[in-house]
Amino acid sequence: MSDRTPHVVCPARELPPGERRLVEIDGRSIGVFNVDGEYYALTNVCPHQRAPLCAGTLTGTTRATSVDDIEWERDGRVLTCPWHGWEFDVTTGETVFNPHRWSVSTYETDVIVNAEAVAAGEAQPAIETHPVDIDDGVVVVYV
Ligand code: FES
Repeated sequence: MSDRTPHVVCPARELPPGERRLVEIDGRSIGVFNVDGEYYALTNVCPHQRAPLCAGTLTGTTRATSVDDIEWERDGRVLTCPWHGWEFDVTTGETVFNPHRWSVSTYETDVIVNAEAVAAGEAQPAIETHPVDIDDGVVVVYV
């Protein structure tokens, strides 16, 4: 984290598990999330069409474990974009559900840096994440 600058977000007690806080740092909107006592920060921009991603619903997702069984997983970790429903894992920044992966012709190729690789099915869109730490009871994000 040495090449990043620490920015105080709030006292940790003001950001309990399941909650989020939006902060403005150097002109960038960043969402800081408490997921089961661990803190994560992401740039508040969806890689699809630049929606305010951190305003989305935080939930989990289902996964088929067999032909007859579906399992609920990642509870409280999956952030759904409020505009078109793309889903991202807050703890990794990786995409969970990206319906455009299967309809490449409609993909917005000028939205994200690696759009060509995504459109070619060689990469998944991801959101920008930032390290977060608790320093003397205060949430600090490194940007
Ligand atoms: S802008 Fe987020 S899914 Fe479209």
